[in-house]
Amino acid sequence: LTVDWDISRSDKGGYPFYMEKEIMEQPRVIGETVKPRIKDGKPDFTAEGIPDEMLASCRRICVIACGTAMHAGLVGKSLIQSLIGIHVDVVMASEFMYNDPIVDKTTLVIAISQSGETIDTLEALKFARKCGSPSISIVNVKGASIARASEYVIYTNAGPEIAVASTKAYTTQLAVLYLLTARMAIARKLWSDEQMKEYMEELQRVPAVMEEVLKSKEEIHHIADTMLNARDVFMIGRGLDYSILLEGSLKLKEISYIHSEAYASGELKHGTIALITEETPVIAVVTQDKLKSKELSNIKEVQSRGARVILLIKGQEELEQEKIWSRIFRLPVMKDEFMVMPVSIVLQLIAYYVSLDKGLDVDKPRNLAKVVTVE
Ligand code: G6P
Repeated sequence: LTVDWDISRSDKGGYPFYMEKEIMEQPRVIGETVKPRIKDGKPDFTAEGIPDEMLASCRRICVIACGTAMHAGLVGKSLIQSLIGIHVDVVMASEFMYNDPIVDKTTLVIAISQSGETIDTLEALKFARKCGSPSISIVNVKGASIARASEYVIYTNAGPEIAVASTKAYTTQLAVLYLLTARMAIARKLWSDEQMKEYMEELQRVPAVMEEVLKSKEEIHHIADTMLNARDVFMIGRGLDYSILLEGSLKLKEISYIHSEAYASGELKHGTIALITEETPVIAVVTQDKLKSKELSNIKEVQSRGARVILLIKGQEELEQEKIWSRIFRLPVMKDEFMVMPVSIVLQLIAYYVSLDKGLDVDKPRNLAKVVTVE
């Protein structure tokens, strides 16, 4: 008896690439990041020693990060501004020093980094600390430089991430930001018990909802295949949908080498729409109830230029002129602020399948490094 078995696949969990394995691990690692930090149904950072006083007293938050981690910060900004009411800036760490940053002891600095070694993020964090800013880092690698350089650290329990394109580190960073937002609400006495209960229950539902999306892998694979020969792929959405698309677009660029841009739907008409021609694939994400009607009208604008619109929409509600959409993917329903989680899996899988079917080295895209220690 001979068994057709490739040894190099063994630590990839039987998948051809680490990236697929890491995408599939997300429901579990999100659970492992969230569960230990819930006590009596509430977020708890006692183990990290983060004082509520610090979360209650800051007047402003400055997130510093690069690449995917910066995109996680943008989601955090939306959450904190809308649910807590504190102003949040998300600053690209590589630009931080060149804009005469205004940070002081009233600014809570949150540094986000998978590796914990990105030099730009580390230098920006050190600068902020010199200015007296309190700081928290969200890091995946235990004992990394950024973790050591910050006052407090919250580890994402994503486990080792081998593929250069980040997936599970990103979604566990988001999980930490959801927890931190809720802890700020406690520190500032903002939410009712009912509001906290609903929010925390929804957060704990994320792994199951992600599993549900993962069951639709084949459907997502078909969607990806419609983009194989595209020169450009545009992605449009508003609010939180726009933040997640910035990451989805980066993922596609990184591993498929297709030019892609994420655009805030309302901004598209101020220039970029000139690039939309017959057959350009446009991924449109619609998950925020209050933005839905505006979003659908922006989508019509690109459709009328002949674009092939791939719509990722929350729920099963029937749409006007349903047949004119090139593809529709129905996302499981969560409260609006949590929809980035199921959407992120769909966008990761689209990028993955495009790269896979183009025969590229998904885990090691050209010109990219997993850890960047040069400025
Ligand atoms: C590199 C990686 C990106 C990552 C960025 C920030 O460019 O290729 O995937 O998002 O660095 O890395 P960090 O380890 O700080 O999250």
